[in-house]
Amino acid sequence: MTEIQLPDWGEPLFEGWWRYMLLYGGRGSAKSHTVAAALVVRAAMTTTRFLCVREFQNSIDDSAKQLLEDKIYDMGMHGRFSITKYGIEHKQTGSTFRFRGMSRPGSLRGTEGIDVVWGDEAQDFSRKSLRSLIPTIRKPGSQLIFTLNPQTPQDAIWKLIEKLQGDPKAVLRLVNWRDNPWFPEILNEERLRDLRRDKDEYQHIWEGQFLSRSNALIMSDRCQLGLEFDCPPAWDTDDGRYYYGADFGFAADPNVLIRAWIKDGYLWVDRAVFGYGIELPDIARMYDAVPGARDWPILADSSRPDIISMLRNLGFNIEGAPKGPGSIEDGIAFLRSFNGIKVHRRCVEFQEECLRYSYKVDKKTEQVLPVVESGFDHGWDALRYAFALLAKSMNGLVVSDEEMNDLDMF
Ligand SMILES: Nc1ncnc2c1ncn2[C@@H]1O[C@H](COP(=O)(O)OP(=O)(O)OP(=O)(O)O)[C@@H](O)[C@H]1O
Ligand SMILES: [Mg+2]
Repeated sequence: MTEIQLPDWGEPLFEGWWRYMLLYGGRGSAKSHTVAAALVVRAAMTTTRFLCVREFQNSIDDSAKQLLEDKIYDMGMHGRFSITKYGIEHKQTGSTFRFRGMSRPGSLRGTEGIDVVWGDEAQDFSRKSLRSLIPTIRKPGSQLIFTLNPQTPQDAIWKLIEKLQGDPKAVLRLVNWRDNPWFPEILNEERLRDLRRDKDEYQHIWEGQFLSRSNALIMSDRCQLGLEFDCPPAWDTDDGRYYYGADFGFAADPNVLIRAWIKDGYLWVDRAVFGYGIELPDIARMYDAVPGARDWPILADSSRPDIISMLRNLGFNIEGAPKGPGSIEDGIAFLRSFNGIKVHRRCVEFQEECLRYSYKVDKKTEQVLPVVESGFDHGWDALRYAFALLAKSMNGLVVSDEEMNDLDMF
C-alpha cells in the first residue's frame, strides 16, 4: 500500500467531533481528490456506510465513483475492495459506498444507517434536496461533507454555510488553488489565461468568489464587506455626525433603517436593520434596534407621508428625503464618490445587497440598461436617502471619474 498524501486542511476528515464539513472554493483546489482519498482510508479502517450524492446524477458516470476507484488504485488498495457497476465495498470491513442523485424522486430510498454523506458540486443542491437529505442522516455521530464552488449567496448550500457560522460542530473552510500542493501545471496555465482575460470571471472560477455580472453591478467594487469596527463618537467623524436613512416596505419588500457616517473619506455603515412583514406600529420597535435612531435626523422615502407622520408622532425626527429627476443616478454617483464603503459584518442583508445591487440587463442583447434591478436595492435606497440632503447641498461638487480625468489635464 502506498502512502497517501493529503493537504493539512484535509486532516479533520479523519476526526469525529464535527457534524458538518463544508469545503468551498475555486477550481483545482483538491477538494474532491482530498475527500475521496480520506473516505477510502476511512473505509479501510472502520466499517462505515458512505452515501455520495450530487444534485444531478443521470448515470453512475456523473457520480464520484470513478474518482474513488482511482484513489483506491493509486493507493494500491484495489485488492481489498470489491467494485461493481453501481457500488464499492471493502472486503474486510464491509464498508460500502452508494451513489445517488438528489433531483430524482425517491433518491434516498434504501439509505438507512448512513454514517457519512459526501455531497460534491454542492452549489447545485436545491433547498428541497438539502431539506430532505439532512434529516435523513440522523445516526449518532453521522457526518455530512459538502464540497462546492460558490455561485451566489442565494444558493441553498450558501444559506447553510451562513447558518453554521460559529457552530462548534461545523468545519467551514475556504480552499483555493494555493491550498493544493499538487496544483497541476496544466491548470495553472488555464488559470493564468483567465487572469489575463477577465478579472471577474477569474475571481469566480479560481478564487471561489460569487458569480458576478460585473458590468451590471453598481456598487460591489466600492464595498468592503465583513468588517468589524466600533462606531466612533460623532465628534470624531469627518463632519461631526451620523446619517440615518429609511426605506419603507410594501408587500414582500422589507422596511430598512440604516446608520452611516463619513470618516477619513470613507463611508461607514455599521447598522442596517431589515424588517419583513412588519406592521406599521412595529416599525418604531424595529428602529429602536439602531442606536441613536431617536436622537438623530432620519431621512426617509418621501412617497409615504402617512408613515412619516406616524413615526414623527412616535417621537422620531424623521422627514421625507428630497426627490427629483435623476435622483437615483445622482445618489449613486454621490455614494460612489467616497474612497469606498466599509460595511460592518453584522449587516447581513445589506452585505448581500452590496454584492447584488445592479442595473437591469437586456436578456436578448446583453446590454446594461440605465434602470436599477429591483430586489437588492432596499438598503441602497435607505443609504441614498440618508445622504440626500448632503448630496443636494454639495450639488455640482460631485464629479465623475471622467470629469476628474479632464480636470487633471489642467
Ligand atoms: N492528493 C493528490 N495527489 C496528487 N494530485 C492531486 C491530489 N489532490 C489533487 N491533485 C491534483 O489537483 C487537481 C485538482 O483537484 P480536484 O479535482 O480535487 O480539485 P477541486 O477543488 O475538486 O476542483 P473543482 O472545483 O474543479 O471540482 C487534480 O486533478 C489533481 O491533478
Ligand atoms: Mg471537484
